Amino acid sequence: MDLKTAAYTLLRANRRTTRDGYQYTVPSPSTYPYQWLWDSCFHSIVLAKLEPDAAIAELRSLLSRQDEDGLIPHMIFWRPKLTRPYHVWWEKGVSSITQPPMIAYAAWEIYEQTGRTDFLREMFPQMLAFYMYLIQERDPHDHHLISIINPDESGEDNSPRFDLAMRVKSNISFFGHMYKRHQLVTMNRTCGFDPLTCMHERFWVKDVPFNSILVKNLERLAQIADVLGEVEAKKFATLHRDLIKFTMREYLMGEGVFWSAIGLEHGHLKVATWAHFAPLFAGIYTPEEAKALIKNHFNNSETFRSEFGIRTVSKKEASYRSNGFWRGPIWFAPHWFIYKGLKDYGFDEEAKWIRDTSVTLIETHGFREYFDPETGKPYGAHNFTWGTLVLDMLES
Ligand code: GLC
Repeated sequence: MDLKTAAYTLLRANRRTTRDGYQYTVPSPSTYPYQWLWDSCFHSIVLAKLEPDAAIAELRSLLSRQDEDGLIPHMIFWRPKLTRPYHVWWEKGVSSITQPPMIAYAAWEIYEQTGRTDFLREMFPQMLAFYMYLIQERDPHDHHLISIINPDESGEDNSPRFDLAMRVKSNISFFGHMYKRHQLVTMNRTCGFDPLTCMHERFWVKDVPFNSILVKNLERLAQIADVLGEVEAKKFATLHRDLIKFTMREYLMGEGVFWSAIGLEHGHLKVATWAHFAPLFAGIYTPEEAKALIKNHFNNSETFRSEFGIRTVSKKEASYRSNGFWRGPIWFAPHWFIYKGLKDYGFDEEAKWIRDTSVTLIETHGFREYFDPETGKPYGAHNFTWGTLVLDMLES
């Protein structure tokens, strides 16, 4: 079976339909049997080219459980019976936190493939409400940097980037970390997830990939608003894209790269992760800075570059574990974000390398969740959908 057929077969096999007719794709039938926010956006990006109606259905189902305040939950538990550890997040059938806001990007991909505006019009008010929620509720002091209130909101559940903010040691175990994140949800629940009262003593991180993804998505939201003739919304999206981009450069840059920051003072969380590369996705580095980044970090085998792909954590970090969930291994979503950024900046050779290593991992091991950068060994979920993003790399 060729790669395209295999990827499409996997997406079809993982597709689920709910009793009320919503359709979504589970990231992995056994390990991740619900709907996840950024995963659904990834699915839509790939499906946009293969089966646009399914791509639209996936986003529709994602929006169906949006909170009144605009938050799109990071998980929707379509099945009433929950398995551990997911019960912790449970809040009336959905999770109470969010995930990287990729929905405008995914919707734009579908529009580009189909030229359809009906679904854009249908979804626009809800998409706008989500971005307004992030800008208003997650930045109550108008710092123009959006905060996440739990590492899970970054999509990189136990990345060492958050160790200091989580008050955990760099050798913490997988389950020890999960317990801490669950505690955080429980504590935030007691203050009703209100940023102003939760933020001071708990977890309040201006995350680089999250803000970079937001910047790119505000750009896409502005383009969608333009197509729909939504003049005020276009101004809103463009203004905040520029403000966040500017503030990221002002407060999150140091030594030529970007660092996530903590609290109201923007103290840098100095753990070198793939977050250094994420701003490429949103065009936040100047061309000269990007060139230095590629030379010093991307092509550096002592830190990020391995035979099998880009490490999510620099090998030089004390917290680096080649087999530790988000603490070093290669994952396809970071690969895809980096690929897109590299292409935009014209680093075609490096982009091709990312694409080729991704294809090799799938051809060797199938659609697994993450990979050891030192040995190429696959880990985690089977039939995991993120590998299907290589189709987008192969066609763009
Ligand atoms: C893991 C990943 C997260 C993803 C989820 C479902 O928790 O860390 O980013 O959304 O699995 O695939």
